[in-house]
Amino acid sequence: MLSGKFAVITGAGAGIGAATARAFAKERAAGIAVVDIREEQAEAVARELRETGCRAIAVACNVAKADEVRAAAARIVQEFGRIDILVNNAGITRDVMFHKMTDEQWNAVINVNLGGMYNWCRAVINGMRDQGYGRIINLSSGSVRGIPGQCNYAATKAAMIGFTNTLAKESARKGITVNCVAPGATDTEMYAQVPDHVLQAMLESNPMHRLGRPEEIANVITFLASERASYLNGQWILVNGGK
Ligand SMILES: NC(=O)c1ccc[n+]([C@@H]2O[C@H](COP(=O)([O-])OP(=O)(O)OC[C@H]3O[C@@H](n4cnc5c(N)ncnc54)[C@H](O)[C@@H]3O)[C@@H](O)[C@H]2O)c1
Repeated sequence: MLSGKFAVITGAGAGIGAATARAFAKERAAGIAVVDIREEQAEAVARELRETGCRAIAVACNVAKADEVRAAAARIVQEFGRIDILVNNAGITRDVMFHKMTDEQWNAVINVNLGGMYNWCRAVINGMRDQGYGRIINLSSGSVRGIPGQCNYAATKAAMIGFTNTLAKESARKGITVNCVAPGATDTEMYAQVPDHVLQAMLESNPMHRLGRPEEIANVITFLASERASYLNGQWILVNGGK
């Protein structure tokens, strides 16, 4: 149960983030901020949560922009009074072989995936330290093991692990845990961009011969956000069907 806890989920307008918002609502979170760069998607998810009786607000924000993140965090604290749980889920791909990669493709992925996590952690960490409680869950990826075309993406997802390990050690005494969830191939809009022949090869090499479902990733995130995970800190949990 997440009773009494106020959560922020970035990239919650679709995919794993939206599934996490629904899972948090089922666990009776006191309030959920549905953050996304796409305002309409965020509002649609927030409305759906409110219809189930959950207190939810949509917050339009580009996580790569520090000023937008600071303003969004201030608005959420004004609305909810505090932030207990932060899920850094917003992420993008710009897949291309490294020898063809442009500076734009490199920088876009670094700025959203890594910069977004930095901006949100920076915006909430002092509040969590002051209140002596926090749960931060960062969405890494199984791609850190290397998938052709993903040098930029894998670099961000591996960096998140080092960041998580370090912030976990810095923050534990203040009642804050920091962990990573690393999904394997999961059935969302992001994965819909993968070419068919790559998808077939992925499915064949997976022991379960299927993609993960967003809800299956959300279940692990929800566990990490809960009291049941109180002694779990600085970990990287691969959720990929055993690949
Ligand atoms: N789907 C997979 O196979 C997979 C595998 C491993 C890791 N992941 C990670 O899980 C997370 C969620 O992935 P998903 O598959 O649900 O993605 P998705 O593309 O389905 O949804 C991502 C959401 O993030 C939002 N977003 C994108 N850029 C943003 C920005 N700058 N600011 C705010 N919001 C932004 C999008 O609008 C979208 O609603 C990502 O961090 C991704 O890297 C996904």
